[in-house]
Amino acid sequence: MYIDPKWRVLTVGDGDLSFSASLLKYHRPRQLTATIYDSKDCLDEKYGDEYYRQLQQENCQVITEFNVTDKSTWGELNNKSFDVVIFQFPLLPAFSSQQAFQAQCENFSVNTLNRVLLRKYLLNCFEYFLDDNGAKLALITSKNVKPYREWDIERSLIRHSAINFIGRFYFDMTKFPDYKVRNVNRDKHVKSTQGTTYIYSSDPLESCKIIFDHASDDYITYNRPSRVPAHKTCQVCRTGAFTNERDKQMHLASKKHHQMFEYEAQWSLFLQQEDVNN
Ligand SMILES: C[S@@+](CC[C@H](N)C(=O)[O-])C[C@H]1O[C@@H](n2cnc3c(N)ncnc32)[C@H](O)[C@@H]1O
Repeated sequence: MYIDPKWRVLTVGDGDLSFSASLLKYHRPRQLTATIYDSKDCLDEKYGDEYYRQLQQENCQVITEFNVTDKSTWGELNNKSFDVVIFQFPLLPAFSSQQAFQAQCENFSVNTLNRVLLRKYLLNCFEYFLDDNGAKLALITSKNVKPYREWDIERSLIRHSAINFIGRFYFDMTKFPDYKVRNVNRDKHVKSTQGTTYIYSSDPLESCKIIFDHASDDYITYNRPSRVPAHKTCQVCRTGAFTNERDKQMHLASKKHHQMFEYEAQWSLFLQQEDVNN
């Protein structure tokens, strides 16, 4: 992940704040505002306040109880004054009880609710946090394993919006010493599996240039159209090329495909309802 020293950075949902503390110490951006979803008491209880104190000692603004989907928790942050916003390993907060789970999942699955969180994050980044005259980059780092890969992060989140998916790069943990990826609700350090950072912008040409110029040492895949003919792939699962029709039919009959098909149908329904409500 390239961080330009001229950038003003906003971090979202930063568990124990170890990512923000590392970013500040080793990448020295012009300005950093770090936010966490939890209250300060909750932070103390779950993880301790080591990184909170480190950031405060460096005069870095830290905001607690910041819900990226809820404007009323943002204070003054909605004035489009950042170059880049970063959400590392996003995941819905744990449900407080079985009743809370049932209430939230009455209409939509956890898969859809995670996509909703990320869609709102991206829409709010470009509407409220990112400076129209700045770098205009929103980043999501996630894992390429279940359940995260079932969110179709690259395509589904920005459907019917003016946001572009620019490409992705390998998240190199070694560039963020002391960063511990945290579980949503416990003081556990999540077993680290390879992360991928997905890059979005409202301004694809300019952003591509920044990424091209500076990220040469990261492995990058740009968002180029696939050369594989569509009929040899499964667009829902993003798999293929199938070697023959039998392979394709076997895939279409598989449990995995049916599950993804169901997720996609539910996501389309959510987007239709969002359209009606806007
Ligand atoms: C798997 S944890 C990762 C924590 C941290 N980003 C890291 O890399 O260690 C997912 C994080 O997303 C945060 N989160 C979930 N929903 C959120 C929301 N609506 N607004 C802000 N943060 C949220 C949770 O509080 C949690 O800290």
